[in-house]
Amino acid sequence: MNFVEAALAKLKAGAGVSSPAQSAPRATLAAPVASPAPSVAAKPRHYERHMRLDREALHAAGLLVDATQDRQLANEFRQIKRPLLAEAYGPDAPADGPRSILVGSAVSGDGKTFAALNLALSLSRERGLSVVLVDADLPKRDLSSLLGLGSATGLADALQDESIDVNSLLFATDIGSLSVLAAGQHREGLTELLASPRMGQLIATLGAGAERSLIVFDSPPLLSSSEARALIDHAGQVLFVVRAGRTPRRAVMSSLELIPAGRNVSVILNDCASQTSEAYY
Ligand SMILES: Nc1ncnc2c1ncn2[C@@H]1O[C@H](COP(=O)(O)OP(=O)(O)O)[C@@H](O)[C@H]1O
Ligand SMILES: [Mg+2]
Repeated sequence: MNFVEAALAKLKAGAGVSSPAQSAPRATLAAPVASPAPSVAAKPRHYERHMRLDREALHAAGLLVDATQDRQLANEFRQIKRPLLAEAYGPDAPADGPRSILVGSAVSGDGKTFAALNLALSLSRERGLSVVLVDADLPKRDLSSLLGLGSATGLADALQDESIDVNSLLFATDIGSLSVLAAGQHREGLTELLASPRMGQLIATLGAGAERSLIVFDSPPLLSSSEARALIDHAGQVLFVVRAGRTPRRAVMSSLELIPAGRNVSVILNDCASQTSEAYY
């Protein structure tokens, strides 16, 4: 996966299009910055549910790469996460810096689930950072299925039932600092649930208890789902995935216009092996 410094510049230059980078002064293209040093280790949280990441199944599903490509991808995600971390916890970040990152894209198949999982894995290597990976693609629930959590209660249930403590639905993983929230049971009115103040409360609750935490949301496509547009209102940061040679330019521009002002927006060009011999992604 590569950064698309040129892509946003082109978007900005596009007639009549105001990119989030222009409307949001804090917008950042993914340029490497120093990692914020953790001051205090994350407090251990008690989890009621546990799971093991089935790396073989994830590999077979194309969400994890071969060992030969792994180092390249790890390096690329290291660069991708730096500005996201800096925005939340860097020296210039406010005390309530944006702790939730929505991984979004224009259409299905751009690589949101791939990017959300690999970003969460990369973030979980940060010392003292607690990472929550949330399957917020409630209509499709690919991530939950691939993690073997297709029938687990999760986000949709916690949205519907205010008596549920969302932290009790988290699965601890075999990677100590990474926990997972499944999509939960499919139900009617998902858009309204995601748009409701309850969603904001859930995000605040998910991050609570850890000294430093980041929440990564896998999400539905922005152009074809009202759920994604409801969700994006709650996201402090957006990692926008563009698939090389696949996502139509017009779709990218229309999607970026849907992102509310004030968000830190990073754009990555995914799967660009055909565009350059230097990178797989
Ligand atoms: N950089 C990549 N390299 C190889 N395969 C990829 C890459 N990004 C996505 N894919 C594959 O493309 C398919 C669609 O990706 P996915 O993350 O499920 O898209 P989305 O969540 O946006 O619908 C998946 O099979 C995934 O494994
Ligand atoms: Mg997906």
